[in-house]
Amino acid sequence: MSNKITQLACATANGVMDWVNARAPGMMPAYRKHMTEYYAPKNFNIWYIFGVLSLVVLVNQIVTGIFLTMHFKPSAAEAFDSVEYIMRDVDWGWLIRYMHSTGASMFFIVIYLHMFRGMMYGSYRKPRELVWLLGMVIYLVLMAEAFMGYVLPWGQMSYWGAKVIISLFGAIPVVGTGLTEWIMGDFNPGDATLNRFFALHVVALPLVLLLLVVLHIFALHEVGSNNPDGVEIKKGPKGNRWSPTAPADGIPFHPYYTVKDLFYVACFLGISAFVIFFAPTFDGWFLEHDNFTAANQLVTPAHIKPVWYFTPYYAMLRVIPSFFGIKLWGVLVMFGAIVCLFLVPWLDKSPVKSYRYRGWLSWTMLAIFVVSFCWLAKIGAGPGTDPVEAIIGRVLTFLYFAFFITMPVWTKIDKTKPVPERVTTHD
Ligand code: HEM
Repeated sequence: MSNKITQLACATANGVMDWVNARAPGMMPAYRKHMTEYYAPKNFNIWYIFGVLSLVVLVNQIVTGIFLTMHFKPSAAEAFDSVEYIMRDVDWGWLIRYMHSTGASMFFIVIYLHMFRGMMYGSYRKPRELVWLLGMVIYLVLMAEAFMGYVLPWGQMSYWGAKVIISLFGAIPVVGTGLTEWIMGDFNPGDATLNRFFALHVVALPLVLLLLVVLHIFALHEVGSNNPDGVEIKKGPKGNRWSPTAPADGIPFHPYYTVKDLFYVACFLGISAFVIFFAPTFDGWFLEHDNFTAANQLVTPAHIKPVWYFTPYYAMLRVIPSFFGIKLWGVLVMFGAIVCLFLVPWLDKSPVKSYRYRGWLSWTMLAIFVVSFCWLAKIGAGPGTDPVEAIIGRVLTFLYFAFFITMPVWTKIDKTKPVPERVTTHD
């Protein structure tokens, strides 16, 4: 009986596929190119799941965002109350909102791990520079998306965060003040600001993000994936059990990696559900306590600070003093910190891609980079009143930049280990 049902289901599925193929003959080849005939290196490890997890979170943000938009009121007079209404009166509204707010932090956690993987295995190196650059543009758009989303509930931190961050543009000589007013649409964050941020957050930036993600994956599939060994499987021997022309060390992305990814996606959803149900504010790290109070122009919160994923850059902004009465330096350093990340494909001169085959010097520099980034994140999340912390912050900012500026030197002089001809798990 069950055999008959399976046969019927298969026949129906094949029938539907034939019907679609007859009308859109380009679809099946595209599916094969990106799924069943995309040969990914067989030595992927756990670091390779964060790309897929980023996709999962992106879908979560879009779906939960659509439901939030059904009840949210994008006006300064109603926004805060409409979020409270979602939390208290809308059926399952609290769940949708916490899925969205937790999703934002989860997005940055997986993106930072995804980027770190790229750095560790030299995935930004030739021929994947474009994949990295598109990734960096995604990172920028994601930051803009998260910032604007945070302004929408119109809590105290939404308002004051918007004021501080948009006012940064005021430090630009000559055009600064005009630019700040142009972005806000007013002299202070207000109804106009909230309206345009809403339009950008729910329509424009998600569309741009989706397009960029498609381009990111297409660009990757043109050149093929890197792997923990940093060995180009396309340059190795040809022929595997699926195709005589495919790289010998590649396996079809579907079903092999899709099944493996499903397991990790389930684990990730489990962890996220735990946060959503038991610690949605994450002690103020994912949703700040001050944002549970409605925006008030007359009361400044004791410590204005952004959400954790922006705090490394915010710390840099705060610890750089203004020289000669010019406040622009901190802003330049903050943006410079992101520009450096764009440039790594050309700063890295090592003869090997993956850190697996690099020496102690590269590992030490990478550790310095990670420690300075995380420590700056901690400083940026604090009140910023301790003068000793400000000095530590300056040292860490210096180390952060030293990692990038001296990269052409230490990547060249570092002793490397011999790289195997094929990925290490080819037998
Ligand atoms: C919405 C955000 C993003 C999504 C959905 C996404 C998705 C993906 C996916 C599915 C892959 C293939 C699987 C994998 O290698 O993990 C990938 C690879 C890659 N991504 Fe992203 N990505 C995003 C953001 C970024 C960012 C911000 C960067 C870095 C600036 C980046 C750099 C890379 C690199 C270098 C690869 C190739 C890795 C390799 O072959 O070793 N991605 N991405």
